Amino acid sequence: MPQFRTIIEPFRIHSVEPLRMTTEAERAEAVLAAGYNLFGLRASDVLVDLLTDSGTGAMSRDQWAAIQHGDESYAGSPSWFVFRDAVRSLFPFAHVIPTHQGRAAEKILFSVLGGPGKVVPNNTHFDTTRANVEFTGAEAVDLVIAEGLDPSSRHPFKGDMDVERLDAVLTERRDDVPLVMMTVTNNSGGGQPVSLANLHAVREVCDAHGVPLFLDACRFAENAWFIREREQGQGHRDVVDIVREMASLADGMTMSAKKDPLGNIGGWLALDDDALAEQCRALLILTEGFPTYGGLAGRDLEALAQGLREAVQHDYLRYRIRSTAYLGEALADAGIPVVQPIGGHAVYLDARALAPHLSPLQYPGQAVAVALYVAGGVRGCEIGTVMFGRRPDGSEQPAAMDLVRLAIPRRTYTQSHIDYVIEVCRHVADHAEDLPGYRIVTEPAQLRHFTARFEPV
Ligand code: F0G
Repeated sequence: MPQFRTIIEPFRIHSVEPLRMTTEAERAEAVLAAGYNLFGLRASDVLVDLLTDSGTGAMSRDQWAAIQHGDESYAGSPSWFVFRDAVRSLFPFAHVIPTHQGRAAEKILFSVLGGPGKVVPNNTHFDTTRANVEFTGAEAVDLVIAEGLDPSSRHPFKGDMDVERLDAVLTERRDDVPLVMMTVTNNSGGGQPVSLANLHAVREVCDAHGVPLFLDACRFAENAWFIREREQGQGHRDVVDIVREMASLADGMTMSAKKDPLGNIGGWLALDDDALAEQCRALLILTEGFPTYGGLAGRDLEALAQGLREAVQHDYLRYRIRSTAYLGEALADAGIPVVQPIGGHAVYLDARALAPHLSPLQYPGQAVAVALYVAGGVRGCEIGTVMFGRRPDGSEQPAAMDLVRLAIPRRTYTQSHIDYVIEVCRHVADHAEDLPGYRIVTEPAQLRHFTARFEPV
């Protein structure tokens, strides 16, 4: 253990990207032109971009060096073997199928396993996962434990699956369930981890019903770090070891390599079942490419292999989890309601609690996210009724929670950027009772949060 309390960034800066300073008036104009949808902004109009931790991290010197090793051979590139071996050193599945990002892996998997009448249980589906399940006509059900839906509960593993409810679904509809998924960490539920004990329990239920278990493993390293920190008897273990145990409990995985693997693009589908892998590879060729590169260039495969090695380093994970907690704790200390405990990749503001004068169908998350942008150029992301409130039949219902996610890109911002974000959040919270609600002016049928246009009410 280090002798001093301050946990510093375990790197120094090698290349810088300038930020363009903007005024509040400029930002008010920009957000109006974007239909009050922060996805519609130009990124150059954003000061601190916490929209996502996906593909936005800083690559290391060694990743950039690895890019120079990229071999762009169409079939059997050496870069493919470097990538495959790096994946399998953590997730030793028989088949690794590279895709351009996580949702491409989901699309392929559910195209084979989904379909009308099927039901896919998950602790909580991420939005693209839910959309890919529903697109096939299947039903996506979220079975996270009750604590996972209570923003103030301090349960250490709020991403855990409610094993009893899972058992009930499998008992009732065994033949309709092609697989069970576990999202680690549970992004839509607040970036909350899943315990090893819960993964074991879910595995047992799946075995009892003969159903395969897949991980949606984007933030596997952060999840493993939480296991090491919080779960009884795990504190002495190497994260690599914990990751391998997580993998050993699953039959396969989908991955967005834009998160913990520290890539700007990439993903994969990995699994043990030979016949299923063959079906997936057939679809891969239709949309992604030949199975030794999928949707990726050889140089991407090299950068990801190196990223995977860095993602499981303890100094990095200690800094990573601590720096997210730093933001969350400062907001909580300022009396701003945030999902507790603080998640791995993001801090989630409880917008429903922050702006109780707005009903969920007036989108309190959207209201807070727009206000953070206008006040300080900080771009977060609504995760609430805008994202999840539209049912397949077009009707609307409040989401379980109305959150604003401030996602922290990996190794990208310094502590003073985060201190600035804290100040902006405090300012918005101080004036929260004046925030207007919003209504949707236009929206698409699927994934409406990306392109819907709003107006204040
Ligand atoms: N699963 C989870 C848990 C995710 O968080 C994401 C992406 C995906 C799957 C899809 O991966 O973007 O590579 O296609 N989450 C990003 C986010 C977009 O901002 O949380 P992808």
